[in-house]
Amino acid sequence: MNKPLPRTFHVKSFGCQMNVYDGARMTELLEAEGLSAAAGADDADLVVLNTCHIREKAAEKVYSDIGRLRREDGSTPMIAVAGCVAQAEGAEIPRRAPSVDIVVGPQAYHRLPDLVREAREGKAKAVDTDMPAESKFGALPARRRQGPTAFLTVQEGCDKFCTYCVVPYTRGAEVSRPWAAVMDEAKALLDAGAREITLLGQNVNAWEGEDEAGRTQGLGGLIRVLDKLPGLERIRYTTSHPNDMRDDLINAHKDVGSLMPFLHLPVQAGSDRILKAMNRSHTVESYLRVIDRVREARPDIAISGDFIVGFPGETEADFAATLALIERVEHAQAFSFKYSPRPGTPAAAMDDQIAAAVMDDRLQRLQALLNDQQYAFNRTKLNARMSVLIERNGKKPGQRIGKSPWLQSVIVEDGPAIGEMVEVDIVAAAPNSLTGVIAR
Ligand code: SAH
Ligand code: SF4
Ligand code: F3S
Repeated sequence: MNKPLPRTFHVKSFGCQMNVYDGARMTELLEAEGLSAAAGADDADLVVLNTCHIREKAAEKVYSDIGRLRREDGSTPMIAVAGCVAQAEGAEIPRRAPSVDIVVGPQAYHRLPDLVREAREGKAKAVDTDMPAESKFGALPARRRQGPTAFLTVQEGCDKFCTYCVVPYTRGAEVSRPWAAVMDEAKALLDAGAREITLLGQNVNAWEGEDEAGRTQGLGGLIRVLDKLPGLERIRYTTSHPNDMRDDLINAHKDVGSLMPFLHLPVQAGSDRILKAMNRSHTVESYLRVIDRVREARPDIAISGDFIVGFPGETEADFAATLALIERVEHAQAFSFKYSPRPGTPAAAMDDQIAAAVMDDRLQRLQALLNDQQYAFNRTKLNARMSVLIERNGKKPGQRIGKSPWLQSVIVEDGPAIGEMVEVDIVAAAPNSLTGVIAR
């Protein structure tokens, strides 16, 4: 039976910030088509699951999420699977989950309205996992209605082919969006109410483009010009690769006031042997040199990273080297994961896969150390005065939550408005947040 043409929709995004960005763009696209946002998945005629393929758990979750969309009367809404699982599994998804009507990859979602019409006609499942040469961005409606913080994708895809990672296959080759497109979108975001913009890319610091004078610029050059846009008070960027951390970007941390003192620079492991097997193309030493240079440019910078434990062949000595690297760097925060073998990646076929119990134990030890470091970093801000951009309501009446320059969550008790930038005195530091009062 064909499902009716949807009038309401709900987009649910999983995975990284690029998916959050894509989810926002799909929302704007569907609204421009005349659909309206439903309160939740239960009320929507069309549900878009914007999925993540990075680890097995994330990818498998899609199928239980699809199952949960079935309603009491046995009907299902129109279901679109978007994102990286859509790209990786394509037409296999409706074969396994027949209630799925549409499959659309990360480079094709501008065609979502057409796919909805095709699905309505119901002759076959509507599947589009093309990576077209023309960019989806030109076909998307203008940005609107922003909270104080916004994401802006400037670079997509990855050519690095770390041996554990699916991203080069799900997102395609590295592409930088042109200078003018980035400027136009940044201006539109500011007009729509944003005060902070986070530039996004799988390897955002590999961004390259030609400025208005035809000069080749890297991310540092782009940031210097964005800094001059009226109304843009804070600039962030993520995620970076150690090998693309060029001088212009490092120096921007010294010179550009609106560039926040925070760097997410994943290193993954602290053993050169493992880094080589991961095809990371950097060493422990070259990574530490980058960190030193960044800290020279901006001594108070907060360092964040990603770590994988239990990569095939990781010995206790390799793991100890990762702990030693963490000790040396002192992170303000970090993400850490158990290695998950992904279909089609070289590491999945390597000998010496590590037992689950060993991975659990290593992850626990690693996270204990990282948590200590995060708490220690938070405590360095006790009694400090800092600017906080208020983003949302807290749990208690009058309470608001915003971000420090170092990306810490700051709970402010005395009720500034959402979107305000306030000076705050920090009165308490917890492992995951700071508490402050407005400075008087
Ligand atoms: N482009 C970014 C991040 C990509 S994915 C970068 O290179 O840093 C985010 C994180 O997921 C990675 O940094 C890595 O730590 C983790 N990850 C990727 N593939 C994984 C896998 N197969 N198993 C476990 N963690 C993985
Ligand atoms: Fe994946 Fe490596 Fe590319 Fe990051 S740099 S997206 S970890 S292949
Ligand atoms: Fe996941 Fe795709 Fe992002 S695999 S981490 S949603 S690029």
